[in-house]
Amino acid sequence: MSATSTLSRASVNRQFVLAARPTGMPDDETFRLIESPIRALADGELLVRAMYFSVDPYMRGRLRTGRSYAPPVEIGGLMVGSAVARVVESKNPDFAVDDIVLTYMGWQEYAISDGQGLRKLDPAIPVTTALGVLGMTGLSAYFGLLDVCDPKPGETVVVSGAAGAVGSVVGQIAKIKGCHTVGVAGGDDKVEWIKRECGFDAAFNYKTATDYAATLRDLCPKGIDVYFDNVGGPLSDAVLPQINVGARISMCGQISQYNNSKPEMGPRLLSMLIVARAKMQGFLVTDYAARFGPALSVLTGWYRSGQIKNREDIVEGFANLPKAFLGLLKGENIGKRLVKAE
Ligand SMILES: NC(=O)c1ccc[n+]([C@@H]2O[C@H](COP(=O)([O-])OP(=O)(O)OC[C@H]3O[C@@H](n4cnc5c(N)ncnc54)[C@H](OP(=O)(O)O)[C@@H]3O)[C@@H](O)[C@H]2O)c1
Repeated sequence: MSATSTLSRASVNRQFVLAARPTGMPDDETFRLIESPIRALADGELLVRAMYFSVDPYMRGRLRTGRSYAPPVEIGGLMVGSAVARVVESKNPDFAVDDIVLTYMGWQEYAISDGQGLRKLDPAIPVTTALGVLGMTGLSAYFGLLDVCDPKPGETVVVSGAAGAVGSVVGQIAKIKGCHTVGVAGGDDKVEWIKRECGFDAAFNYKTATDYAATLRDLCPKGIDVYFDNVGGPLSDAVLPQINVGARISMCGQISQYNNSKPEMGPRLLSMLIVARAKMQGFLVTDYAARFGPALSVLTGWYRSGQIKNREDIVEGFANLPKAFLGLLKGENIGKRLVKAE
């Protein structure tokens, strides 16, 4: 017999599927909402209902074909993504009704699972943190900064995308490590927030700055030791000539390029890596999976002590998932963008 939540268990599921591969910025035609029946559970299965969805830049990569570290979503296929969900019915002895889990269920209201890959969440900690500061974004900041760059006290760390989910945590970890932190973000409100709440020593708005190189020289008088790059493009062109000998560059993301159909040709400045005997390394957070446990303990400690502040940018309503994703690509969010489903 299965246990069922007091919450009504709908018989119809709503799902967003990929309708068309976008050229350039995705739009209203990119996703389509469909409905399908929810079947009965088999033994060992459970049914979850989404509470919060994570909306992330990597999702743009899933919309295109071509070489990548993960396969694309097929046309007509369910859009991928992580969510925090509540168990509403269970025939699996390891999961009880009302357990809250982290799951890669995609953009749908309900999902049936055999329990594989689900992580039960501690209800004593706000469950949304599992999608942000105590999830993939916090872990990306942690490993991309500490493992790739090994920042030392007194060093200057420049962070692009600094008011976003990953960037805002990077700046705060760099501050904990005693670094001089300089953030770059796309709005005066964002600049103000990362200085006031995230403790960045300096920051500027790349949308209004006229000369990135001169601004960086002003804000980084001792040069740049660490560059944590979420964005790429013209900002990186301004950073590279200012790196110090022995600098480390963590290539986390290149969001300024994600909607380009052809790679953007820019100044070719990689010789600066030779001049500065510097290291530039791309990384993928999932490669660190074996070390997630200890890293999450450290991040949880910083979060609980208030050393890392977490800001969430929550869009209401399952139906607004595509809109929330498009808005992320346009820089609407401050902190971690989520969609509240129920
Ligand atoms: N390597 C990994 O394992 C890994 C893991 C997680 C995330 N990432 C990468 O990390 C980066 C940040 O991800 P996130 O989840 O923290 O997202 P996020 O920074 O919270 O949101 C995306 C932000 O990117 C900025 N942006 C958008 N278009 C831009 C453009 N053309 N030029 C400059 N900035 C632009 C916007 O902020 P502004 O207003 O400041 O422009 C927007 O708010 C992304 O590049 C993502 O792909 C990598």
